[in-house]
Amino acid sequence: MKLLNFILPIVLLSQGAFSAPDTDDPCAKIAGKSFSLPRDVQACYKSFPFNETIRQNVLTVVSRVFDFYTFEDFYTKLPDPFEGSTVKIRETIDRINKTEYSNDYHFMKDVYDFTLRMNDGHTRFLMSCYTAYQNMIPAPLISLWDAKRQEHGVFIAPNSVELVSLLGEAYYGYYDSIGFDWKRLAGAQVLAIEGADPYDYVDRVADWQTGNYLDHGVRVNSVFTSYRISGGQFSQRLGDLAGPVDISTADLTFKILFPTTTEPEDVTIPYYANMIGTAFKDKVTFWNGNCKADKSTNGIDLRPSNGTESNRRDRKRFGPEASIHDPSHMEAIALPEPYLPTAPTVVGTTDVIKSYVLPGNQTGVMYVSSFGGDYYSFQLGVAASMWSFQQAGVTQLLIDVSNNGGGYVCLGHFLHAWIAGLGDKGYAGFDSTNRANPLAQKIVSSAIDQNLDSSWLFYAGNNWAFTNGTRMYPWYNYMDPTINITVNGKDDKTSQRLHDVCDLSYIIDIPTEPTFNLSNVAIVSNGLCSSTCALFSTSMSEKHKTKIAVFGGKPGEEMEYRAMAGNQVMDWPDLDTEIKTTGLKSDPLAPPDLIVKANMRHNWRTAYGSSESSEPLAYVSARAAYRFPYTRETYNNPQNVWSFAASELFPSSE
Ligand SMILES: *[C@@H]1O[C@H](CO)[C@@H](O)[C@H](O)[C@H]1NC(C)=O
Ligand SMILES: *[C@@H]1O[C@H](CO)[C@@H](O)[C@H](O)[C@H]1NC(C)=O
Ligand SMILES: *[C@@H]1O[C@H](CO)[C@@H](O)[C@H](O)[C@H]1NC(C)=O
Ligand SMILES: *[C@@H]1O[C@H](CO)[C@@H](O)[C@H](O)[C@H]1NC(C)=O
Ligand SMILES: *[C@@H]1O[C@H](CO)[C@@H](O)[C@H](O)[C@H]1NC(C)=O
Ligand SMILES: *[C@@H]1O[C@H](CO)[C@@H](O)[C@H](O)[C@H]1NC(C)=O
Ligand SMILES: *[C@@H]1O[C@H](CO)[C@@H](O)[C@H](O)[C@H]1NC(C)=O
Repeated sequence: MKLLNFILPIVLLSQGAFSAPDTDDPCAKIAGKSFSLPRDVQACYKSFPFNETIRQNVLTVVSRVFDFYTFEDFYTKLPDPFEGSTVKIRETIDRINKTEYSNDYHFMKDVYDFTLRMNDGHTRFLMSCYTAYQNMIPAPLISLWDAKRQEHGVFIAPNSVELVSLLGEAYYGYYDSIGFDWKRLAGAQVLAIEGADPYDYVDRVADWQTGNYLDHGVRVNSVFTSYRISGGQFSQRLGDLAGPVDISTADLTFKILFPTTTEPEDVTIPYYANMIGTAFKDKVTFWNGNCKADKSTNGIDLRPSNGTESNRRDRKRFGPEASIHDPSHMEAIALPEPYLPTAPTVVGTTDVIKSYVLPGNQTGVMYVSSFGGDYYSFQLGVAASMWSFQQAGVTQLLIDVSNNGGGYVCLGHFLHAWIAGLGDKGYAGFDSTNRANPLAQKIVSSAIDQNLDSSWLFYAGNNWAFTNGTRMYPWYNYMDPTINITVNGKDDKTSQRLHDVCDLSYIIDIPTEPTFNLSNVAIVSNGLCSSTCALFSTSMSEKHKTKIAVFGGKPGEEMEYRAMAGNQVMDWPDLDTEIKTTGLKSDPLAPPDLIVKANMRHNWRTAYGSSESSEPLAYVSARAAYRFPYTRETYNNPQNVWSFAASELFPSSE
């Protein structure tokens, strides 16, 4: 054995010495490893030269997709309290077009950060290339209320050892190897980060790295660790400080007060990055697998004349989606065992819905973690959960929507209609419009000319109903005439007002009476309730005065109960498919195919606050009436959140 130990290093050394090309290839150095140092990942990212062809391609697509963006004119000056997210869209594109970049990474990151800082998760340039790694420190943060000391503080999650252990030795072994004691961080109080007050530093991350949500308080919760459902299982998100998909930070220096000492200590915590992209061997394979456009990057022409009829069936046909994108789902860590609900699940539990009867049999809980997943299972899950609650004799219903990133618009309507007993025909949604730019008008009229209905296109008229509930004909041109509007002094055009048509996709009859007295229904979350979830919560609050409680956020700061009430999102391949299928790809206004693996998604439809109002719902402030700080007992413990919320929100609870 001794001999082997002695020989092995020599063998490795000589291999290194003779495979010279590898040493020049910074991607080969990190290839095949699940974890790498951020500086080594950066070296790989920065090894691709700046390329003018890529810049023109990306900026042309980004710029022409913005022509469809319903909120473009609002961004010249967003209304209070969201004015902090104001971004000069066209000027920024112009600046990026003129900037000198030292490599492709710097260019792409600039485009990525520009759209990220609009804080509209529906409208983002997402690139696969330079989000192939998730940076991580073994110190997920959380703001906790200490009832004994009557104060808030930022802490390293008390369960960080249990959580980080689940990442495996490939991760924490690195800290052991450099003699860094990551275990003693658990539960310690953070007094400063990089010399700043911890809440100020969290604000900085919320404003510069989180994106996705207009409301600052919601972004703050995204910086902290939280429970969620990912891939059908309870998971604990590291948060945007401990687990960003951005490898530009090598380490952070914390001033930490350990429970056993009285003097704070400066501790520098290095990041260690997890590969979440496509496996590669070297620079060339990194580029081909992660950066180069592949067959799903762009849209396709669905018409049979271009190939086969089967093209049409490739397209998912469950209707409009409104959701945000959280890449940290790619390597989700489980919620450690001790924090899982102890109440047994009841019939009705699915991948995205987890249903329970709390001890005492008074309260039914439905954790609706998403409006996505399987379209039909969702409907069956709602129906069966409500049946289970009735069987158990519960009288109050608590709905948890923590970290619900949205999903199918019609499933939001479905859940609302079921709880409120609206029957199949009751309309639970909002008025909406899309933008009638010249190319959109051509798409709608070209679809009519070619008899392409909603089985082909999102732009076809029979996707929608008039505001009186009558479904539009497929050949109805809802952009002729347009509605002419003025936003921030700029003239623009939208389509006529649209209602969703959802009842056709329901597989179960919705009751015409509420299952529970609506005053005994409440919603709870961490505010990260986006898109379809935001529309659902708004309907419940406005139409039925449902109590909505939000946990966490920044102490002392107001907070919204919803995030991104935009409405339907169009991912780039879907928009491109609309353009190609209507034969308009060669139109001078049409964006070209992307040559890099990326997505320029945008908010394609606006929901309005009411049928009388022209104010987008997204810009109507909706403050949470009930706010609770997280405590050591609740921050990562869903059942403790539910029991506490039930006792606060339902007066009849013991
Ligand atoms: C720039 O990128 C394009 C598209 O990937 C490629 O065809 C071209 O060769 C690149 N130019 C340079 C100078 O590398
Ligand atoms: C970038 O600037 C050049 C030179 O002015 C111009 O030709 C090109 O169209 C611009 N590209 C975009 C995407 O705006
Ligand atoms: C036509 O269909 C083929 C595959 O069926 C696809 O590769 C091609 O990109 C399509 N053409 C257009 C213009 O969409
Ligand atoms: C709650 O319901 C379960 C199952 O029906 C029953 O076993 C239990 O005794 C009930 N608990 C109370 C407090 O009523
Ligand atoms: C609903 O409105 C549309 C458009 O104005 C109209 O054509 C249709 O007849 C109306 N339907 C009903 C039932 O009034
Ligand atoms: C909006 O303006 C266009 C001309 O740009 C006009 O044709 C159309 O009728 C106007 N729409 C309404 C509803 O006034
Ligand atoms: C619902 O509950 C409220 C408050 O407890 C009560 O005032 C109301 O009468 C109840 N409604 C029905 C239909 O039972």
